[in-house]
Amino acid sequence: MSNIFYVGIDLGTSRTSIATSTGKRLSATTCVGYPKDIISKKRFGKAYLLGEEALDNRLGLNMVWPLAEGVIRADERATEATGLILRHIIAEALSDKQEADEIYAAIGVPAQASFNNKRAIIDITEDFIDKILIVSEPFAVAYSIDRFDETLIVDIGGGTTDLCRMHGAIPDEADQMTLKIAGNYLDDKITKAILEKFPDVQLTPRIIRRIKEKYGYVSDVSEPVKVPLTENGIPSEYDITEILRESCLKLTHPICEAIQKLVGTFDPDFQEKLRNNIIIAGGGSRLKGIDRAIEKSLQVYGGGNAATVQDAEYCGSIGALKMCMEMPEEYWEKI
Ligand SMILES: Nc1ncnc2c1ncn2[C@@H]1O[C@H](COP(=O)(O)OP(=O)(O)OP(=O)(O)O)[C@@H](O)[C@H]1O
Ligand SMILES: [Mg+2]
Repeated sequence: MSNIFYVGIDLGTSRTSIATSTGKRLSATTCVGYPKDIISKKRFGKAYLLGEEALDNRLGLNMVWPLAEGVIRADERATEATGLILRHIIAEALSDKQEADEIYAAIGVPAQASFNNKRAIIDITEDFIDKILIVSEPFAVAYSIDRFDETLIVDIGGGTTDLCRMHGAIPDEADQMTLKIAGNYLDDKITKAILEKFPDVQLTPRIIRRIKEKYGYVSDVSEPVKVPLTENGIPSEYDITEILRESCLKLTHPICEAIQKLVGTFDPDFQEKLRNNIIIAGGGSRLKGIDRAIEKSLQVYGGGNAATVQDAEYCGSIGALKMCMEMPEEYWEKI
């Protein structure tokens, strides 16, 4: 008799994480790097590098980020890269797996991709996954914390912010909204704002991310934020307190508007309950003051209550794993 391994995967634009029924948790950056030329091929000695290793060597590689803006991009490279990422993260998490064992996987993908890319994901995983369930990310988040009653999930990721209204049944399209405004958008805003004020400083996406993740905030006050940056290689300190706040507000404003819309179009008997049960997930939930900012934006509607999830990194994959282990037969796609 063969064993069944259950895995829950959160396939995100910037990060992919996995949780398994054997208790493993792993995460990796969602990118693949292919050697640029004959020299880099010789240097790396392999056809591709994955995740952080690819990023660390990106100067010699052509980088592919397969999930741009919440869907798998429609070229062959992107599909292939998605397959490589999934195959490797599963192999790594299940290194103790026997040949005969079966793998059942629930994969959480951005809400939009769950409508558009379902077939593609099934096709690229068929030779290493035995049964698959594709779910939208915010639903996986709700599942991880057992919140199926009136709850609004706001998953602020890299490429997209996915919002989903829960009301005790499987949510339909009217309950979901996807904004292309999330972490990457904020990085872009911060970069532009810094360059506008200090045109000659040297910035890379990594520098910006580090600054944002350490100092980003949407509260009314903050300690002065002074960061070391270089200009023609010469380092000095730059005060970016206001720049950061204004950029971060450009992220939270549209998210607050989307929340107001999903609340405002809900059954009026349950609007108050929905307003008071807002769960913020995804990497963006770590932005300082975001819960308060969302609550404040609901004041004219009678107030609200927003909380961030405990484990922003794994709640999507843990939710997917839970679904994987509980889902009755008829919901699975058979491969
Ligand atoms: N402390 C922090 N403050 C602000 N943003 C943060 C923080 N930590 C991580 N992030 C941002 O969260 C984003 C990644 O979030 P997450 O890992 O949930 O995305 P994803 O699931 O890969 O993307 P998506 O859900 O769009 O597919 C990145 O833009 C990252 O910079
Ligand atoms: Mg995500």
